[in-house]
Amino acid sequence: MATYIYHRMSELFLLSLFVSSFMVASAGTFDEDFDMSWGDHRGKMLDKGKLLTLSLDRISGSGFQSKREYLFGRMDMQLKLVSGDSAGTVTAYYLSSEGNNHDEIDFEFLGNLSGEPYIVHTNVYTQGKGDREQQFYLWFDPTKDFHTYSFVWNPHRIIFLVDNTPIRVFYNEESIGVPFPNSQPMKLYSSLWNADQWATRGGLVKTDWSKAPFTACYRNFNANACVWSRGSSSCASTPSTSGVSSTPGSGDWQTQGLDANGRRRLRWVQKYFMIYNYCSDFKRFPQGCPRECRRGRFL
Ligand SMILES: *[C@@H]1O[C@H](CO)[C@@H](O)[C@H](O)[C@H]1NC(C)=O
Repeated sequence: MATYIYHRMSELFLLSLFVSSFMVASAGTFDEDFDMSWGDHRGKMLDKGKLLTLSLDRISGSGFQSKREYLFGRMDMQLKLVSGDSAGTVTAYYLSSEGNNHDEIDFEFLGNLSGEPYIVHTNVYTQGKGDREQQFYLWFDPTKDFHTYSFVWNPHRIIFLVDNTPIRVFYNEESIGVPFPNSQPMKLYSSLWNADQWATRGGLVKTDWSKAPFTACYRNFNANACVWSRGSSSCASTPSTSGVSSTPGSGDWQTQGLDANGRRRLRWVQKYFMIYNYCSDFKRFPQGCPRECRRGRFL
């Protein structure tokens, strides 16, 4: 019943009223929120679950995934990426549902030679179809300190944020026939792996294994989200695991869009840091750019 109503409600106001009563804030330790999913000892939870590290060597990379599945939410994670010569490595941090026709929302950090810039690669898959890449450089060195990378995912839009600056918005354009991820619950995943066939300068620069192991670090995961439970249709809540961070207005993600300042920041990123946008790749889409690009709302 709850889900029936949940899916049917298109009115912003009603939706936010409803969701707020089932919302979950999670700011626990990594062992409460995540499982190491592959890579054996290469993934570690340290400091009583407050720090997580993934590593990659010649034999294998590693990864972790959330215990819970979410249907809408805001997820924040602080990452410190592989430092030094990270060419060929990719640190992926993404939400994904399972099965065919899956939905997925991706951050991928493509490493580089020492002192050369990382690329932040983003993509959105809906009903199994991706091909919606946007790529950016960052305005800081992501290997020196922890920075916050966030997804805001609500029924209206998906916002990718870096240190609270929006770098990309994917709008719900179902009204013009573009599927939007709003019915398949997703888990949060991260992995560190070797992708030297394509990652750095399009595959020209290979991983230097003499620099292995490569390590990425994670801390301060925070989710304000709807948790999908027991495969059933309820958007039920689980107890918040600690009082670490109850951000004021943390329920705002449900309707969050861009205010004037957000739009200004987004334009700044797009002007100075965006290096690829599928929406303007006319060679790739000679018959015209994808539908969701046409309204000029990809800004
Ligand atoms: C690596 O550095 C080169 C040279 O500065 C640059 O062209 C490239 O975009 C950088 N990033 C990646 C991931 O290749």
